[in-house]
Amino acid sequence: MGAKAGVGALGLVLLAILVFLAVSSWSRQPAGAKPSIQPINFPHRVHVQTYKIDCQYCHSDARRSEYAGLPSVQRCMGCHRIAGAALPEVKKVADYYARGEPIPWVRVNKLPEFTYFPHKAHIRASVTCQTCHGPVETMMTFGAETGPRLTNDLLTLVGLRPAPPPLTMGWCLDCHRRQNATAGAHAPLDCVTCHH
Ligand code: HEC
Ligand code: HEC
Ligand code: HEC
Ligand code: HEC
Ligand code: HEC
Repeated sequence: MGAKAGVGALGLVLLAILVFLAVSSWSRQPAGAKPSIQPINFPHRVHVQTYKIDCQYCHSDARRSEYAGLPSVQRCMGCHRIAGAALPEVKKVADYYARGEPIPWVRVNKLPEFTYFPHKAHIRASVTCQTCHGPVETMMTFGAETGPRLTNDLLTLVGLRPAPPPLTMGWCLDCHRRQNATAGAHAPLDCVTCHH
């Protein structure tokens, strides 16, 4: 009798925790379409799909450094002195340029400081941008779902093994193991290469 009540109480506590987690994660989801968090509503789709601009024309550090980098306002103005100059969002670009200020883009993909991720090694190994960042060329507003997710954690709890979300350690290791086994790559699995 006492043991049964104990199990029942434990069940209730677990249920309460799950409901709390679910509600707190839902309340973080914005309702409806996400407005851009960026200072200028920059449409990847227009630039990549309509005007066929290469990813690395704008993110030109990707093949040679740790970072992919963002284009300078000068690079934007190379086209926007003329292209779309009358459009309100493009005028904002010209305003930053006239004031000599960089555009304060908000960073989306961010690993913790104690990790090391070099773009260069991945671009040289011919991993496409889209493998990691999704179909950016279709996006009007760049969005990324990264990091721990409630549904994922629950599936793991009940013993299923869902694919780890982008930018988690499991995601890095899954691909490294796969690449080493199937493509003869030498992607690191040892702690110190990714953690200094
Ligand atoms: C193997 C997965 C992977 C590939 C391939 C990849 N990225 Fe990334 N990207 C990441 C990760 C992880 C971060 C976050 C890095 C950090 O916070 O240190 C990131 C961050 C970025 C950033 C913001 C920070 C920065 O480095 O400037 C940009 C822009 C970016 N990637 C663009 C690109 C482009 C363009 C390509 C293709 C040329 C590409 N990425 C290929 C995983 C990848
Ligand atoms: C290689 C040329 C080129 C470069 C470089 C370029 N753009 Fe564009 N962009 C275009 C063209 C062409 C359009 C479509 C203009 C139109 O619809 O009249 C456009 C459209 C836009 C629009 C959409 C305007 C709207 O409301 O429909 C914005 C915002 C924009 N660009 C911002 C930028 C920013 C910020 C940069 C730099 C990071 C940049 N562009 C770099 C060519 C370029
Ligand atoms: C005309 C220039 C331009 C082109 C071409 C372009 N980008 Fe971008 N990209 C930007 C700008 C500006 C931002 C910052 C604003 C934003 O996040 O929307 C950005 C942001 C990003 C980010 C998010 C960076 C972060 O903060 O984590 C990724 C990832 C990315 N781009 C990947 C790509 C990929 C992949 C392609 C090709 C399919 C591409 N970009 C083509 C200008 C460009
Ligand atoms: C391929 C790269 C890679 C390798 C190899 C790797 N890690 Fe990580 N690790 C990451 C990344 C990226 C993160 C941050 C994202 C996350 O927390 O999932 C991380 C996070 C962590 C964290 C923090 C977790 C948290 O919740 O804050 C610990 C602890 C850790 N790693 C330990 C290790 C140990 C021990 C090894 C060796 C057995 C190892 N890692 C190997 C990429 C790697
Ligand atoms: C989609 C597959 C994929 C993903 C996801 C991925 N990597 Fe890699 N990684 C590779 C490949 C392929 C190589 C190159 C192996 C080679 O050169 O043989 C590599 C190499 C590396 C290297 C070695 C760099 C060097 O200079 O030798 C590091 C460090 C690294 N990755 C860290 C990470 C971290 C951290 C993450 C997660 C945030 C990650 N990778 C996610 C495929 C991936």
